[in-house]
Amino acid sequence: MEFRTTSNNINRNPIAFFDSGVGGLTVFSKVKALLPNENYLYFGDTKNMPYGEKSEKELLEFADKIFKFFEREGAKAVVMACNTTSAVTYEKLKNNYNFKIYPIIQSVCPYLANLNGVKKLAVIATSATVNSHIYSKEIKKYNPQTEVFEIDAPKWVKIVEEHRINESSNEVKEILDKLPEVDRIVLACTHYPYLLMVLKEFMPADKFIDPSLDFARIIKSDLEKNGLLNDKFEYEKFYVSSSPENFVKSSQVFYELTELPKVIIL
Ligand code: DGL
Repeated sequence: MEFRTTSNNINRNPIAFFDSGVGGLTVFSKVKALLPNENYLYFGDTKNMPYGEKSEKELLEFADKIFKFFEREGAKAVVMACNTTSAVTYEKLKNNYNFKIYPIIQSVCPYLANLNGVKKLAVIATSATVNSHIYSKEIKKYNPQTEVFEIDAPKWVKIVEEHRINESSNEVKEILDKLPEVDRIVLACTHYPYLLMVLKEFMPADKFIDPSLDFARIIKSDLEKNGLLNDKFEYEKFYVSSSPENFVKSSQVFYELTELPKVIIL
């Protein structure tokens, strides 16, 4: 990933995140904890959620508009805190903008491929991510021995966005029941870690992998290596494409917003 911006005061420019909704906050909250001196932008495309049920053409359009918005806002780096867009759009769009882009899947698969003692890995993701088979392909690139089982959980994103987590045991179990015996299970949609409190009713919590912490470490170390870190926090700005009140309500498990996000239509 080459860095291609020309601005002088680049370090103070924000790191921008996007997702279809509150899922990306699982990544944002960890990056912010590791890098408290950064400025941040976050866009939740709540009007177009769920991304996992959208076509490639639609996902490319959404991602391109969001990247262009971040370009206008002067982002120094953009975090694709969404597995679905990383799976479907990253390869096609990655060279079109003047900032560094961090896609979640391509960033974390080298680590997932080499987990101690893991021979069989289940990956639960959106339908679009599963249909792309990107987890299997990426993991096998780094470790051809690992067996990867991909399964979609199309209802899980809405459970989180509609804050129905407390009543979701049946819908959660329905998917877990379909899994073969595996060593670990990757929560390969950034919305799914919100369901950990339900998931652990059925399996030990440490069976599940939320890749966001490793992703945050990768982002930090790469920004450091490129001399792009800031030394003073000034702002964080949240945007959504609809329903700001709902966003605040759904986000609480991972991040307490102090004000309503601004609604923008791109
Ligand atoms: N949170 C996103 C992901 O990681 C998108 C979920 C959706 O909107 O379907 O895949």
